[in-house]
Amino acid sequence: MAAHVQHILDEGLAALAATNDPVELENSKARYIGKEGAITALLRQLATLPPEEKKTFGATVNQAKQAFEAALAARREELAAEKLARQLAAEALDVTLPGRGRAAGGLHPVTLVQQRIEALFRSIGFEVADGPEIETDFHNFEALNIPKDHPARAMQDTFYVEGGEVLRTHTSPIQVRYMLNNQPPIKIVAPGRVYRVDSDATHSPMFHQMEGLWVDEGVSFADLKSVIVDFLRNFFEDDTLQVRFRPSFFPFTEPSAEIDVMGKRGWLEVGGCGMVHPNVLRNVNIDPEKYTGFAFGIGLDRFAMLYYGVNDLRLFFENDLSFLGQFKQA
Ligand code: DAH
Repeated sequence: MAAHVQHILDEGLAALAATNDPVELENSKARYIGKEGAITALLRQLATLPPEEKKTFGATVNQAKQAFEAALAARREELAAEKLARQLAAEALDVTLPGRGRAAGGLHPVTLVQQRIEALFRSIGFEVADGPEIETDFHNFEALNIPKDHPARAMQDTFYVEGGEVLRTHTSPIQVRYMLNNQPPIKIVAPGRVYRVDSDATHSPMFHQMEGLWVDEGVSFADLKSVIVDFLRNFFEDDTLQVRFRPSFFPFTEPSAEIDVMGKRGWLEVGGCGMVHPNVLRNVNIDPEKYTGFAFGIGLDRFAMLYYGVNDLRLFFENDLSFLGQFKQA
Protein backbone atom coordinates (compact mmCIF):
# COMPACT_ATOMS: atom_id res chain seq x y z
CA MET A 1 0.00 0.00 0.00
CA ALA A 2 1.31 3.39 -0.91
CA ALA A 3 2.86 4.94 2.15
CA HIS A 4 0.72 8.05 2.30
CA VAL A 5 -2.51 5.99 1.92
CA GLN A 6 -1.34 3.76 4.72
CA HIS A 7 -0.55 6.85 6.80
CA ILE A 8 -4.04 8.30 6.29
CA LEU A 9 -5.62 4.92 7.10
CA ASP A 10 -3.53 4.55 10.27
CA GLU A 11 -4.57 8.00 11.40
CA GLY A 12 -8.20 7.16 10.70
CA LEU A 13 -8.06 3.84 12.58
CA ALA A 14 -6.35 5.57 15.50
CA ALA A 15 -9.14 8.16 15.60
CA LEU A 16 -11.78 5.41 15.71
CA ALA A 17 -9.95 3.59 18.49
CA ALA A 18 -9.41 6.76 20.49
CA THR A 19 -13.04 7.74 21.01
CA ASN A 20 -15.61 6.33 23.39
CA ASP A 21 -18.27 8.71 22.23
CA PRO A 22 -20.70 7.61 19.47
CA VAL A 23 -21.08 11.20 18.22
CA GLU A 24 -17.31 11.61 17.99
CA LEU A 25 -17.15 8.28 16.16
CA GLU A 26 -19.56 9.52 13.48
CA ASN A 27 -17.51 12.73 13.17
CA SER A 28 -14.42 10.59 12.43
CA LYS A 29 -16.39 8.73 9.80
CA ALA A 30 -17.16 12.05 8.10
CA ARG A 31 -13.53 13.13 8.34
CA TYR A 32 -12.30 10.03 6.47
CA ILE A 33 -15.02 8.59 4.24
CA GLY A 34 -17.55 11.42 4.19
CA LYS A 35 -17.97 13.74 1.21
CA GLU A 36 -15.03 15.86 2.27
CA GLY A 37 -13.18 12.98 3.91
CA ALA A 38 -9.47 12.25 3.51
CA ILE A 39 -9.99 8.78 1.96
CA THR A 40 -12.75 10.12 -0.31
CA ALA A 41 -10.29 12.76 -1.50
CA LEU A 42 -7.84 9.98 -2.46
CA LEU A 43 -10.55 8.30 -4.54
CA ARG A 44 -11.23 11.57 -6.25
CA GLN A 45 -7.51 11.84 -7.20
CA LEU A 46 -7.90 8.63 -9.25
CA ALA A 47 -9.41 10.53 -12.12
CA THR A 48 -6.25 12.58 -12.49
CA LEU A 49 -3.92 9.57 -12.68
CA PRO A 50 -2.61 7.90 -15.81
CA PRO A 51 -4.41 4.58 -16.61
CA GLU A 52 -1.49 2.30 -15.57
CA GLU A 53 -1.41 3.82 -12.04
CA LYS A 54 -5.18 4.03 -11.72
CA LYS A 55 -5.63 0.33 -11.24
CA THR A 56 -3.17 -0.32 -8.45
CA PHE A 57 -3.81 3.00 -6.69
CA GLY A 58 -7.56 2.48 -6.97
CA ALA A 59 -7.28 -0.97 -5.42
CA THR A 60 -5.10 0.39 -2.63
CA VAL A 61 -7.48 3.20 -1.75
CA ASN A 62 -10.50 0.88 -1.89
CA GLN A 63 -8.72 -1.51 0.46
CA ALA A 64 -8.03 1.39 2.82
CA LYS A 65 -11.68 2.49 2.65
CA GLN A 66 -12.92 -1.05 3.37
CA ALA A 67 -10.51 -1.41 6.27
CA PHE A 68 -11.77 1.89 7.69
CA GLU A 69 -15.43 0.88 7.25
CA ALA A 70 -14.82 -2.47 8.90
CA ALA A 71 -13.07 -0.80 11.84
CA LEU A 72 -15.92 1.74 12.09
CA ALA A 73 -18.57 -0.99 12.18
CA ALA A 74 -16.63 -2.93 14.81
CA ARG A 75 -16.16 0.20 16.94
CA ARG A 76 -19.85 1.08 16.70
CA GLU A 77 -20.73 -2.34 18.01
CA GLU A 78 -18.21 -2.08 20.80
CA LEU A 79 -19.57 1.29 21.90
CA ALA A 80 -23.16 0.03 21.79
CA ALA A 81 -22.17 -3.01 23.85
CA GLU A 82 -20.37 -0.81 26.37
CA LYS A 83 -23.39 1.45 26.65
CA LEU A 84 -25.68 -1.53 27.25
CA ALA A 85 -23.30 -2.94 29.85
CA ARG A 86 -23.21 0.40 31.66
CA GLN A 87 -26.98 0.62 31.62
CA LEU A 88 -27.40 -2.92 32.93
CA ALA A 89 -24.91 -2.23 35.70
CA ALA A 90 -26.70 0.98 36.65
CA GLU A 91 -30.12 -0.64 36.70
CA ALA A 92 -28.99 -3.85 38.34
CA LEU A 93 -31.31 -5.15 41.03
CA ASP A 94 -29.62 -7.12 43.74
CA VAL A 95 -32.35 -9.47 44.89
CA THR A 96 -30.07 -10.83 47.61
CA LEU A 97 -30.00 -7.49 49.51
CA PRO A 98 -32.01 -7.55 52.74
CA GLY A 99 -35.34 -5.70 52.57
CA ARG A 100 -35.83 -2.29 54.14
CA GLY A 101 -38.24 -3.73 56.65
CA ARG A 102 -41.12 -2.03 58.37
CA ALA A 103 -41.09 -0.59 61.85
CA ALA A 104 -43.95 -1.94 63.92
CA GLY A 105 -46.36 0.76 65.06
CA GLY A 106 -47.53 0.91 68.64
CA LEU A 107 -50.37 2.27 70.68
CA HIS A 108 -50.11 5.64 72.40
CA PRO A 109 -49.14 5.39 76.10
CA VAL A 110 -52.44 7.00 77.13
CA THR A 111 -54.32 4.43 75.03
CA LEU A 112 -52.30 1.61 76.61
CA VAL A 113 -53.16 2.85 80.09
CA GLN A 114 -56.81 3.35 79.10
CA GLN A 115 -57.02 -0.24 77.85
CA ARG A 116 -55.34 -1.51 80.99
CA ILE A 117 -57.88 0.28 83.19
CA GLU A 118 -60.79 -0.87 81.02
CA ALA A 119 -59.59 -4.47 81.39
CA LEU A 120 -59.38 -4.15 85.18
CA PHE A 121 -62.96 -2.84 85.40
CA ARG A 122 -64.30 -5.34 82.88
CA SER A 123 -62.91 -8.08 85.09
CA ILE A 124 -65.29 -6.97 87.87
CA GLY A 125 -68.35 -6.66 85.62
CA PHE A 126 -68.18 -3.08 84.32
CA GLU A 127 -69.00 -2.24 80.72
CA VAL A 128 -67.31 0.46 78.63
CA ALA A 129 -69.57 3.35 77.54
CA ASP A 130 -69.01 6.23 75.15
CA GLY A 131 -70.40 9.67 74.35
CA PRO A 132 -69.88 12.67 72.06
CA GLU A 133 -67.11 15.24 72.53
CA ILE A 134 -69.42 18.11 71.58
CA GLU A 135 -72.02 18.17 74.30
CA THR A 136 -75.16 20.03 75.14
CA ASP A 137 -75.27 22.31 78.15
CA PHE A 138 -77.85 19.92 79.60
CA HIS A 139 -75.61 16.83 79.53
CA ASN A 140 -72.36 18.58 80.46
CA PHE A 141 -73.78 20.80 83.24
CA GLU A 142 -77.51 21.02 83.91
CA ALA A 143 -78.29 17.33 84.44
CA LEU A 144 -75.19 17.04 86.61
CA ASN A 145 -76.70 19.50 89.06
CA ILE A 146 -74.62 22.42 87.78
CA PRO A 147 -77.26 25.06 86.96
CA LYS A 148 -76.49 28.22 84.99
CA ASP A 149 -74.54 30.79 87.03
CA HIS A 150 -73.69 28.13 89.60
CA PRO A 151 -70.19 28.96 90.83
CA ALA A 152 -69.09 25.40 90.03
CA ARG A 153 -69.15 26.29 86.31
CA ALA A 154 -66.16 28.55 86.95
CA MET A 155 -64.18 25.46 88.07
CA GLN A 156 -64.12 24.36 84.45
CA ASP A 157 -63.11 26.92 81.85
CA THR A 158 -65.27 25.87 78.97
CA PHE A 159 -64.76 25.98 75.21
CA TYR A 160 -68.06 27.00 73.66
CA VAL A 161 -69.13 25.85 70.21
CA GLU A 162 -71.38 27.88 67.95
CA GLY A 163 -75.00 27.21 68.78
CA GLY A 164 -74.46 27.07 72.53
CA GLU A 165 -73.00 23.57 72.72
CA VAL A 166 -69.71 22.94 74.49
CA LEU A 167 -66.63 20.79 74.12
CA ARG A 168 -67.29 18.48 77.05
CA THR A 169 -65.28 19.60 80.05
CA HIS A 170 -65.35 16.14 81.64
CA THR A 171 -66.53 12.59 80.93
CA SER A 172 -69.37 12.95 83.46
CA PRO A 173 -71.99 13.70 80.73
CA ILE A 174 -71.53 10.08 79.61
CA GLN A 175 -73.07 9.09 82.98
CA VAL A 176 -76.09 11.21 82.12
CA ARG A 177 -76.46 9.74 78.63
CA TYR A 178 -76.10 6.20 79.93
CA MET A 179 -78.58 6.61 82.77
CA LEU A 180 -81.14 8.24 80.44
CA ASN A 181 -81.05 5.09 78.32
CA ASN A 182 -80.57 2.36 80.92
CA GLN A 183 -82.16 1.52 84.25
CA PRO A 184 -80.08 0.07 87.11
CA PRO A 185 -78.17 -2.05 87.69
CA ILE A 186 -75.62 0.14 85.93
CA LYS A 187 -71.87 -0.53 86.01
CA ILE A 188 -69.86 1.43 83.48
CA VAL A 189 -66.54 3.07 82.87
CA ALA A 190 -66.38 5.74 80.16
CA PRO A 191 -63.06 6.96 78.81
CA GLY A 192 -62.62 9.90 76.46
CA ARG A 193 -61.13 13.22 75.47
CA VAL A 194 -62.16 16.30 77.41
CA TYR A 195 -61.41 19.98 76.87
CA ARG A 196 -60.68 22.99 79.04
CA VAL A 197 -59.16 26.42 78.49
CA ASP A 198 -55.88 25.56 80.18
CA SER A 199 -52.29 24.92 79.08
CA ASP A 200 -48.98 24.40 80.96
CA ALA A 201 -46.64 21.54 81.99
CA THR A 202 -49.43 19.73 83.81
CA HIS A 203 -52.48 20.96 81.85
CA SER A 204 -53.33 20.52 78.20
CA PRO A 205 -56.42 22.08 76.55
CA MET A 206 -57.31 18.52 75.54
CA PHE A 207 -56.79 15.70 77.97
CA HIS A 208 -58.28 12.33 78.84
CA GLN A 209 -60.54 11.21 81.63
CA MET A 210 -62.23 7.99 82.61
CA GLU A 211 -65.58 8.11 84.32
CA GLY A 212 -66.90 5.32 86.50
CA LEU A 213 -70.48 4.74 87.62
CA TRP A 214 -72.17 2.03 89.63
CA VAL A 215 -75.87 2.46 90.39
CA ASP A 216 -77.98 -0.23 92.00
CA GLU A 217 -80.02 -0.91 95.13
CA GLY A 218 -77.90 -0.60 98.23
CA VAL A 219 -74.66 0.70 96.68
CA SER A 220 -72.76 2.44 99.49
CA PHE A 221 -69.70 4.56 100.13
CA ALA A 222 -68.01 1.38 101.41
CA ASP A 223 -68.47 -0.12 97.92
CA LEU A 224 -66.96 3.01 96.40
CA LYS A 225 -63.91 2.77 98.63
CA SER A 226 -63.32 -0.93 98.08
CA VAL A 227 -63.71 -0.76 94.30
CA ILE A 228 -61.37 2.23 93.97
CA VAL A 229 -58.72 1.00 96.42
CA ASP A 230 -58.76 -2.40 94.74
CA PHE A 231 -58.50 -0.86 91.31
CA LEU A 232 -55.58 1.39 92.29
CA ARG A 233 -53.63 -1.43 93.94
CA ASN A 234 -54.13 -3.61 90.86
CA PHE A 235 -53.27 -0.83 88.46
CA PHE A 236 -50.04 0.10 90.22
CA GLU A 237 -49.28 -3.54 91.06
CA ASP A 238 -48.77 -2.69 94.73
CA ASP A 239 -50.87 -4.59 97.29
CA THR A 240 -50.03 -2.15 100.06
CA LEU A 241 -50.44 1.10 98.08
CA GLN A 242 -51.80 3.77 100.43
CA VAL A 243 -55.00 5.41 99.20
CA ARG A 244 -56.77 8.29 100.90
CA PHE A 245 -60.24 9.82 100.38
CA ARG A 246 -60.14 13.54 101.11
CA PRO A 247 -63.50 15.29 101.64
CA SER A 248 -64.29 17.60 98.74
CA PHE A 249 -67.13 19.06 96.73
CA PHE A 250 -68.66 18.23 93.37
CA PRO A 251 -72.19 19.36 92.48
CA PHE A 252 -73.07 15.91 91.11
CA THR A 253 -72.01 13.89 94.15
CA GLU A 254 -72.84 14.03 97.85
CA PRO A 255 -70.75 13.28 99.79
CA SER A 256 -67.72 13.92 97.55
CA ALA A 257 -64.04 13.12 97.89
CA GLU A 258 -60.73 13.54 96.13
CA ILE A 259 -58.75 10.35 95.67
CA ASP A 260 -55.06 10.52 96.65
CA VAL A 261 -52.38 7.85 96.38
CA MET A 262 -49.05 7.84 98.22
CA GLY A 263 -46.29 8.50 95.74
CA LYS A 264 -42.52 8.67 96.12
CA ARG A 265 -42.74 12.33 97.15
CA GLY A 266 -46.00 12.31 99.12
CA TRP A 267 -49.72 12.28 98.37
CA LEU A 268 -50.80 12.63 94.75
CA GLU A 269 -54.31 13.46 93.64
CA VAL A 270 -55.53 11.03 90.96
CA GLY A 271 -59.27 11.73 90.74
CA GLY A 272 -62.57 12.68 92.28
CA CYS A 273 -65.48 10.56 93.44
CA GLY A 274 -68.62 10.49 95.49
CA MET A 275 -72.14 9.17 95.92
CA VAL A 276 -74.32 10.19 92.96
CA HIS A 277 -76.40 13.21 94.03
CA PRO A 278 -80.15 12.45 94.27
CA ASN A 279 -80.81 15.43 91.97
CA VAL A 280 -78.71 13.79 89.25
CA LEU A 281 -80.66 10.53 89.57
CA ARG A 282 -83.94 12.48 89.39
CA ASN A 283 -82.71 14.34 86.28
CA VAL A 284 -82.25 11.01 84.46
CA ASN A 285 -85.49 9.43 85.74
CA ILE A 286 -83.95 7.06 88.26
CA ASP A 287 -85.70 6.87 91.63
CA PRO A 288 -83.26 8.06 94.33
CA GLU A 289 -85.44 6.46 97.03
CA LYS A 290 -84.83 3.05 95.49
CA TYR A 291 -81.35 3.35 94.01
CA THR A 292 -78.04 4.72 95.11
CA GLY A 293 -74.75 4.83 93.30
CA PHE A 294 -71.21 6.04 93.28
CA ALA A 295 -69.25 7.78 90.57
CA PHE A 296 -65.65 8.67 90.01
CA GLY A 297 -63.57 10.54 87.48
CA ILE A 298 -59.86 9.99 86.96
CA GLY A 299 -57.31 11.68 84.70
CA LEU A 300 -55.96 9.10 82.26
CA ASP A 301 -52.98 11.28 81.33
CA ARG A 302 -52.09 11.57 85.00
CA PHE A 303 -52.29 7.78 85.33
CA ALA A 304 -50.06 7.37 82.26
CA MET A 305 -47.53 9.85 83.71
CA LEU A 306 -47.43 7.96 87.01
CA TYR A 307 -47.35 4.53 85.39
CA TYR A 308 -44.53 5.35 82.98
CA GLY A 309 -42.69 7.97 85.07
CA VAL A 310 -43.24 10.81 82.60
CA ASN A 311 -42.98 14.26 84.19
CA ASP A 312 -44.28 16.56 81.45
CA LEU A 313 -47.81 16.06 80.18
CA ARG A 314 -47.03 17.84 76.92
CA LEU A 315 -44.75 14.98 75.82
CA PHE A 316 -47.88 12.88 75.29
CA PHE A 317 -49.25 15.28 72.71
CA GLU A 318 -46.18 16.32 70.69
CA ASN A 319 -46.17 13.13 68.55
CA ASP A 320 -42.40 12.76 68.78
CA LEU A 321 -41.79 9.21 67.57
CA SER A 322 -38.59 8.79 69.60
CA PHE A 323 -40.69 9.44 72.72
CA LEU A 324 -43.72 7.41 71.67
CA GLY A 325 -41.59 4.48 70.45
CA GLN A 326 -40.52 3.67 74.02
CA PHE A 327 -43.92 2.43 75.16
CA LYS A 328 -44.73 -1.22 74.88
CA GLN A 329 -47.98 -2.96 75.66
CA ALA A 330 -48.97 -2.12 79.24
N1 DAH B 1 -66.08 15.47 86.54
C1 DAH B 1 -65.06 15.82 87.53
C2 DAH B 1 -63.99 16.69 86.88
O1 DAH B 1 -63.82 16.67 85.73
C3 DAH B 1 -64.41 14.57 88.05
C4 DAH B 1 -65.34 13.78 88.86
C5 DAH B 1 -65.42 13.98 90.22
C6 DAH B 1 -66.15 12.83 88.28
C7 DAH B 1 -66.26 13.26 91.00
C8 DAH B 1 -67.01 12.09 89.04
C9 DAH B 1 -67.06 12.32 90.44
O2 DAH B 1 -67.82 11.18 88.55
O3 DAH B 1 -67.92 11.58 91.20
O4 DAH B 1 -63.33 17.40 87.56
